[in-house]
Amino acid sequence: MRVALLNLIGLLLLTGCQTKQAVVPESQQQAWWKEAIVYQIYPRSFQDSNGDGVGDLQGIIDRLDYIESLGINAIWLNPIYPSPNADNGYDVSDYRGIAPEFGDMETFDRLLDELHKRGIKLIMDVVVNHSSDEHPWFIASRSDVNSPYRDYYHWWPASKGTPPYRYSLFDAKGDAWKYDSITDAYYLHYFADKQPDLNWENPALRQEVYDLMKFWAQKGVDGFRLDAFQFAAKDTTFPELPQGYEKNFIQYYAMQPGLHDYLKEMNQQVFAPYGVVSVAEGAGRSFEEAHELVDADRQELQMAYAFDGVDVAKYDGYSLATLKKVFTDWDRSFAEKGWLSIFLSNHDQARLVSRYGNDTPEHRVASIKLLNTFLLTMRGTPYVYYGDELGMTNIGMDRIEEYQDVAAVNGYAKAKFMGEDLDQHMKILAKTSRENGRTPMQWTADAMAGFTEGNPWMKINPNTAFINVQDQVADPSSPLNHFKSLTQLRKKNPVLVYGAYELLAEDHPQVYAYTRTLGEVSCLVVLNFSDQTARWAPIGLSLGAQPWINSADQLTREGKELILAPYQSVVIPLN
Ligand code: NOJ
Repeated sequence: MRVALLNLIGLLLLTGCQTKQAVVPESQQQAWWKEAIVYQIYPRSFQDSNGDGVGDLQGIIDRLDYIESLGINAIWLNPIYPSPNADNGYDVSDYRGIAPEFGDMETFDRLLDELHKRGIKLIMDVVVNHSSDEHPWFIASRSDVNSPYRDYYHWWPASKGTPPYRYSLFDAKGDAWKYDSITDAYYLHYFADKQPDLNWENPALRQEVYDLMKFWAQKGVDGFRLDAFQFAAKDTTFPELPQGYEKNFIQYYAMQPGLHDYLKEMNQQVFAPYGVVSVAEGAGRSFEEAHELVDADRQELQMAYAFDGVDVAKYDGYSLATLKKVFTDWDRSFAEKGWLSIFLSNHDQARLVSRYGNDTPEHRVASIKLLNTFLLTMRGTPYVYYGDELGMTNIGMDRIEEYQDVAAVNGYAKAKFMGEDLDQHMKILAKTSRENGRTPMQWTADAMAGFTEGNPWMKINPNTAFINVQDQVADPSSPLNHFKSLTQLRKKNPVLVYGAYELLAEDHPQVYAYTRTLGEVSCLVVLNFSDQTARWAPIGLSLGAQPWINSADQLTREGKELILAPYQSVVIPLN
């Protein structure tokens, strides 16, 4: 006989979660950043306050009530420094300033102060694998071989011949060396040619970087996310690399000798004295390397931000088995030591619900609730990208003229140069481009989404008409309200932060299920990752009476089986 259990989220948040409180053992080394729920804001797209069509810092201040209402306790801001915006701020021309389109230092100070008043920490992006070619260091460096700034970058004199091939991620021809006639030499750029790589072998450059980080730490920022830092150390003899190495360039670019020395030095000068947290974008090429970056006794970085999870989805979808394996393997590797970030989206990816969920009208709401349940019930610090709390979807632009991102524009030029099938290229781009994840925040149903009163810097997704904050605030069963329940649940239950993770139902084709256990407290997370009803019988588990949280109206059981609706997600106490 079918027994339907009512979903009483509100009541259960007050009861179920509080019946037993797990004590966090000392060995877990509690820290605010382990207990944080990070909300990532792409400032350009969050809220425009002055009608110029570009999001800004005052806009974020104006939305602080909303941000606080989410229940998050840290934000990560993508770069807000002055920049020619060849790569939307990842090409910095002044590391101690605020980009005029985002505001000024007084506004930044106010933002930081207002965040702190609300108990929200701020993590800044630090982009020091490379600078902008318009940074004064580079301008001086390129102007004269005898400049004290010459060795802030990597130069290859043309008198030595053509430099050994280096692959560039963003170059229109894939070439990381650019010839500069001023001094008849090539400079290195792993990303676009307007992003010359800094030379970390130079102690003067390193000191400049530590000093600029101290500048922000002294202001009171709480953490740094180190952009592309695993590429910073290089073999500056630039040996020839095996042909075709670019297919696997991370093996050759990441974690080169010297990197750990730089990180230890940075830790001594910045992280330790100022007590700021540091997040490693990219976490090496193996679990061992990730540990070498973030284990506490190494005194380098603190939180690994590894890409394996976000890389599971490809153009044509992903396999649930692989997703389970990747997250489970990482968790196992970090069970005793080290700390992970948990994320499935960011500004470099297409939208979460479109990549890992199902953005059709029928399944969008359930599937984004499922994905957020996953992120907020795993061990590690969850990172939620703005708009994913609503289930914002891909915009899917199909003409290259609509794209602005250097990766898309130069990627298209490169595909053309290589004679690839451009129609197919555009199909893939529409689905996978990171610009899908950069459309303005959808606050209201209006055409301008409540984002701007001007001309938005980037196209607004027309589905703001029915996916927006205003509507979702008013709807108790919206993804937004579900997200808020999840943040409350996680914050009240240390088991969801520190508890051991154990994978169940490993071979189930639809269900991802796991337990989290801390001391005497244990709960079961069951996620139906499919658009079909799923049945699963948890073996040997005595389920507590009521779910802590359930994305559907009810949880159906038939005998020992749970019958899950498409994309249903549920967290059930076990004792
Ligand atoms: C990684 C950043 O996340 C990405 O947005 C940027 O384009 C590259 N690093 C280069 O800075």
